[in-house]
Amino acid sequence: MAQIIALYSVKGGVGKTASVVNLAALSALQGRKVLLWDLDPQGAASWYLQAEPESAPKTQQLLKAKSVAEGLRPSTHRNLTVLPSDQRYHDMEHVLAEKKDAGFRIAKVLDGLTEDFDEIWIDTPPGITLLGDNVLRAADLVLVPLVPTHLSERTWFQLKAHLAQEKIKPGKLAAFLTMVDRRRALHRDFFAQKILEIPELWPSEIPYASIIEQMGDDQSPTVFKHPRHPAAQAYFQLWQRLDTTLKS
Ligand SMILES: Nc1ncnc2c1ncn2[C@@H]1O[C@H](COP(=O)(O)OP(=O)(O)O)[C@@H](O)[C@H]1O
Ligand SMILES: [Mg+2]
Repeated sequence: MAQIIALYSVKGGVGKTASVVNLAALSALQGRKVLLWDLDPQGAASWYLQAEPESAPKTQQLLKAKSVAEGLRPSTHRNLTVLPSDQRYHDMEHVLAEKKDAGFRIAKVLDGLTEDFDEIWIDTPPGITLLGDNVLRAADLVLVPLVPTHLSERTWFQLKAHLAQEKIKPGKLAAFLTMVDRRRALHRDFFAQKILEIPELWPSEIPYASIIEQMGDDQSPTVFKHPRHPAAQAYFQLWQRLDTTLKS
């Protein structure tokens, strides 16, 4: 039975996609059978992993078990399969809204995939949406990247409030810092200041690093291409923390 791990944030541009690609790649490097489901219509995770969708079935077929299974694509790594996003994912909210099981559809579709993989990673578009709620319900662990800014922190509390409202288990949330620039005082002190307010904040942090922005140059996860770079090492530390959590 695969464990389901989602990268999620109310805020865009906080490193969800960069993180899901690198963390899923690290699991694949450990020999696990990994699926990455790219639920963001922008399709950045699919693009980074060179997994483009082949066919484009009708929008109505979205989220039907059969068409999902047909959408699986290999990536550049043998243990890493991708369910790429495509343009139709822009219609996801409407497609979901029309379903009887609107709040649990993604979980149901995932049920049909869990036998074939050890881990299923999900990249999610930002915002509080029906799709987001589906992901929050389906995931065993929801990882929230926080950039050390007040606005990013604010969205963490918005997410917590939303979970309470929707009666989704808050225990599955974990946060980590990313894009940390140690030359900036706010960034340096953020962890020490926030750990009391955000006990779910893990101590590992991903530095601000241009090598991560450059992932698009060769469409390959940083942890594959530059495994010794401090940013890749930081992702490995985060991955280890995650692995411990998943095993407990
Ligand atoms: N640790 C990092 N250091 C520098 N740039 C980063 C880092 N993580 C992500 N980025 C860049 O920031 C932008 C937003 O990241 P992305 O992962 O796409 O965010 P999200 O998926 O949350 O919208 C991208 O251009 C990405 O390359
Ligand atoms: Mg993204």
